[in-house]
Amino acid sequence: MEKNSTKQLFTQNNMPVMGLGTWQLTKDTAGTVLYAIEFGYRLIDTSSDYKTQPGIGEAIKNTTINRDEIYITTKVEETDDSYERTKSNLKELKLDYIDLMLIHRPPFIGAGEELWDGLIKAKKEGLVLDIGVSNYSIPLIEELIKKSDEIPAVNQIEWSPFGHSQEMFDYCLEKGIVIQAYSPLTRTKRFSDKILNEIAKKYGKSPAQILIRWNLQFGTVPIPMADQKEQLEEDLNVFNFEIDNEDMKRLSNLNEHYSSLRSLPYV
Ligand SMILES: NC(=O)c1ccc[n+]([C@@H]2O[C@H](COP(=O)([O-])OP(=O)(O)OC[C@H]3O[C@@H](n4cnc5c(N)ncnc54)[C@H](OP(=O)(O)O)[C@@H]3O)[C@@H](O)[C@H]2O)c1
Repeated sequence: MEKNSTKQLFTQNNMPVMGLGTWQLTKDTAGTVLYAIEFGYRLIDTSSDYKTQPGIGEAIKNTTINRDEIYITTKVEETDDSYERTKSNLKELKLDYIDLMLIHRPPFIGAGEELWDGLIKAKKEGLVLDIGVSNYSIPLIEELIKKSDEIPAVNQIEWSPFGHSQEMFDYCLEKGIVIQAYSPLTRTKRFSDKILNEIAKKYGKSPAQILIRWNLQFGTVPIPMADQKEQLEEDLNVFNFEIDNEDMKRLSNLNEHYSSLRSLPYV
């Protein structure tokens, strides 16, 4: 696996194996994202409520990297008219298509069929290449598929050694759904874990790099956020080592369905 490796979705479109999150990356979004793209990040994750879409649009306009080499994931909120929000996201991003549009979270009641219908329409019209969900449990994904016959290409969920689910991973594998791993660094909250640090020391890497590499080897697509250039570089510098099977198991065994936010919405 190289930093420019991609993963094929069941729709045959390709997604970079890791990306940059931009929630709270608002100090200088345009400058930081431009730096990240020039450094080698090819997937940028955003949302209509992160306030980072205009800066990302500016960075894409200013980079020499072709648009088709950059992969943009963005989201609609559960209270949105999803078709209209897709169009306003495009406007904010100054783009004519989005690679992947997600339902940010399921609505309070139901699986969000209306939201899904709006995204299906946007996809048919070529406004987005792929559509998916975020923070969905297996029963909610099943309900969406049953009602629409359209399988989400992605489920974006919190995922780290401390909080993940083999059942969700196996389900997604069987359906061909890719898991994008958000808060893969546990928002730094588990950086002082003893086993994580032991393993980091053994490979001469930082806890952040081990958490990202664990995701890559697990088969999920991590989207860590970093506001500072040194950390942003450190996070992408994870393609020159491999965690051995035993250490992968030790890390996975740290699972306690931990969430750095509230709780894992899928367990
Ligand atoms: N779909 C959803 O509901 C959802 C929910 C949460 C997140 N997300 C997406 O996932 C992305 C990542 O998740 P996240 O931002 O919650 O958390 P995260 O990536 O787990 O952690 C981000 C934090 O880690 C720090 N950091 C980054 N690299 C580091 C390094 N090498 N060493 C030390 N500290 C480092 C950052 O510091 P600085 O602040 O100094 O940069 C920031 O405080 C988000 O930005 C967003 O795009 C999606």
